[in-house]
Amino acid sequence: MPENIIIDTDPGQDDAVAILLALASPGDINVLGIVAVAGNVSLGQNAKNALKVVELSGRTDIPVFAGCARPLRRPLVTAEHVHGQTGLDGPDLPEPQKRIEDGHGVDFIVDTLRREPEGSVSLCALGPLTNIAMALIKAPEIAKKIKQIVLMGGAYFEVGNITPTAEFNIYVDPEAADVVFSSGVPIIMMPLDVTHQMLSTHKRIEAFEALGNRTGAAVAAMLGFSERFDLEKYGWNGAPLHDPCVTAYLIAPEIFEGRQCNVTIETASELTRGMSVTDYWHVTDRPKNTFFVRSGDSDAFYALLTERLARLP
Ligand code: BDR
Ligand code: CA
Repeated sequence: MPENIIIDTDPGQDDAVAILLALASPGDINVLGIVAVAGNVSLGQNAKNALKVVELSGRTDIPVFAGCARPLRRPLVTAEHVHGQTGLDGPDLPEPQKRIEDGHGVDFIVDTLRREPEGSVSLCALGPLTNIAMALIKAPEIAKKIKQIVLMGGAYFEVGNITPTAEFNIYVDPEAADVVFSSGVPIIMMPLDVTHQMLSTHKRIEAFEALGNRTGAAVAAMLGFSERFDLEKYGWNGAPLHDPCVTAYLIAPEIFEGRQCNVTIETASELTRGMSVTDYWHVTDRPKNTFFVRSGDSDAFYALLTERLARLP
């Protein structure tokens, strides 16, 4: 039986690839809906990007909602310097014909979970955790409906990418991340520690281009754009591919390795705001709230992506 999921996202080239992987895999994943959140760029632009990605995949049956326009307590920090002015620079995608659904994205999450059986829906978080925190605050009873929250965010051994100590998604809304990590819902965390192993080398980007479909060409253009910033920053032979680790985990968890430990979010310090403090060595008795993924097989990851994206138009 395919796993029921809701994708919460701020697309983002890497978010787009994560969404395309899910939409290409109906035998494994049933996408109940996509909810945009403010993050890489504004909420409005992120929602529009989500529509473009859905249209690219040909799966226009998937509803797209708009959620929160800013973090719980902080002004929004964006990342045009990484993703471009549109947030999805690179491919030349048409203006979407599909429309954002009526109703607020947080209400979509709450109403959907209320309808579904206990422990049956996985939430996939690819951006700041504002919408998911809001849903848990608005309707705490939905926590028991969530099977797991699989999220891209945080870091421990790799520490930070937007500040020396924080990863972007957690940094943008640390209070929301704190709500999520304190919720008691099982969390699978894809931190920089694993995403920094998933490098989109030229050979891997060429393999997307060589698929010969419009999705492969668009993905190659997305990754070609977003790697510019990262290649200069890190000096590696490819840029990290973050968010697709989330949807790849749902399809092929054997690609990844990690351990159960406590993760607590720093919200008070200005210096280390949004740090995901991970008790990897079990030196406290804090509850083990998170499956922290530390490594993954990058060849298997890219093989899965290429094989699945070949199935799309
Ligand atoms: C995360 O930040 C965003 O810019 C990416 O889409 C990813 O979700 C990586 O730190
Ligand atoms: Ca993202």
